[in-house]
Amino acid sequence: MSDPWQECLDLCVEVTKKAGEMIREALQKDIAVMQKSSPVDLVTETDQRVEQLIISSIKEKFPAHSFIGEESVAAGAASVLTDDPTWIIDPIDGTTNFVHRFPFVSVSIGFTVKKEIEFGVVYSCIEDKMYTARKGKGAFCNGAPIKVSGQEDISRSLVLTEMNFDKDPARFRTMLANVESILTIPVHGIRSPGSAAVNMCLVACGSADAYYHMGIHCWDMAGGAAVVTEAGGVIMDISGGPFDLMSRRLIVASSRAVAERIAKQVAELRVGRDDTD
Ligand code: IPD
Repeated sequence: MSDPWQECLDLCVEVTKKAGEMIREALQKDIAVMQKSSPVDLVTETDQRVEQLIISSIKEKFPAHSFIGEESVAAGAASVLTDDPTWIIDPIDGTTNFVHRFPFVSVSIGFTVKKEIEFGVVYSCIEDKMYTARKGKGAFCNGAPIKVSGQEDISRSLVLTEMNFDKDPARFRTMLANVESILTIPVHGIRSPGSAAVNMCLVACGSADAYYHMGIHCWDMAGGAAVVTEAGGVIMDISGGPFDLMSRRLIVASSRAVAERIAKQVAELRVGRDDTD
């Protein structure tokens, strides 16, 4: 039987490439930076233009599909996941990197049907790495198959997480304490590349062994979640329970043993949900 979503995946790759070109061009010009919820929550005109390009190109072919896009939600659109075919879009994952020309900037798109991720595309556009994954069919970088390291030992692991300012002092202290708690296991090291989607792809291709984060959004997670899962990785909630796309938190890892150890080691932060808060 032919794949009902292959046409959507093909279009997704095509549109993501165009979006990446737009981002690379914008990097050659002055970047005007605006603030969203806080002085460290940044947005640029390019985030908005890229999201418009992606949504309008997809709507032309699939007018009945639903969309959850970072900048549309910032402008007041709902972020509720339904059973409809849904495109979950982060036009620039790593906006702060983009603003500073720090070279991990990605376009991330995940596609869900009946709330299940069917495929994901992450284009790390400065590195020119196109990651793609289709449920049950594996994960690829620029067309070549990728897989996780398979590391089972946390003390031999390179762990990724992101450290963002949080205006809630208790939450901020917990986030820092979690970093200390992981570092003192000890692990080989912690890195913060600055794009959640790229972080998941780094685990997917074995360059890192785990990534954990609380406080991100479904558009940061959807594309990369498909890639890391199809590369043989494990994805779970920070509590060790099942992964929930709207929960704003996750652990991905090269093995269940490493993921479960991180779940045990970190204290949970209250970060709310994408669909209710
Ligand atoms: C951000 C990146 C970053 C993470 C932030 C996210 P954005 O996404 O994924 O790694 O630390 O929490 O907001 O805002 O650039 O799409």
